[in-house]
Amino acid sequence: MSLPSQDQLKTMVGKAALHYVAPHEVIGVGTGSTVNQFIEALASVKDKIKGAVSTSSESTARLQALGIAVMDANEVNELSVYIDGADEIDHQGFMVKGGGAALTYEKIVAAQSRLFVCIADESKLVQTLGRFPLPVEVIPMATQRIIRQFQAMGGTSQVRLNKGMPLITDNGQHIIDVAGLQITNPMAFETCVSQWPGVVTVGVFAWQKAQVCLLGTAEGVKTLRF
Ligand code: 5RP
Repeated sequence: MSLPSQDQLKTMVGKAALHYVAPHEVIGVGTGSTVNQFIEALASVKDKIKGAVSTSSESTARLQALGIAVMDANEVNELSVYIDGADEIDHQGFMVKGGGAALTYEKIVAAQSRLFVCIADESKLVQTLGRFPLPVEVIPMATQRIIRQFQAMGGTSQVRLNKGMPLITDNGQHIIDVAGLQITNPMAFETCVSQWPGVVTVGVFAWQKAQVCLLGTAEGVKTLRF
């Protein structure tokens, strides 16, 4: 029997996440190709939930196309669950996120949720964060200074481009991707970089870490709890 493809693993974890969707609730929905599989699966229970708080224009469009109400974060109180993917997750539930440029809204919705369920295929599981270039959303005026600050830590940064121009986030800002970091203390790292003037959001999710990871593997979906 052949091994499941990465897309099949994403579909498996997207479906498995339905287990955490309680009836009559508003849920938080992340962004990315794994979450797109979750949104597809959500169609089967869409009449049982009240709606969703979305983290990007792309997820909003997909949810609305299925007839799921998308609510403003300020219209609702605490969310029972937030379902999102990750670019990396370690064995403590700390993550790097932002490969889809939605990190700021993702961190806001994660902070508003009781439970963060990360859905990921097994290629995302790492010992130490830093293999994936770290996304950081920045105010454009501060870009070069922030790049120099990362350089002093051993990181090499690139401004993320879209059709040759700096990508503009849903938030109207830019993203730099920082390669070459070894993030051995994610909480201290997030606390430190978040305070640099001009940093909107750093893609380390340590204070908003996952409590559960549904990991798609060749042996099936494994549930990791942190
Ligand atoms: C978007 C994210 C995504 O969760 C992350 O990039 C993973 O995406 P994918 O499921 O496509 O691999 O943080 O900002």
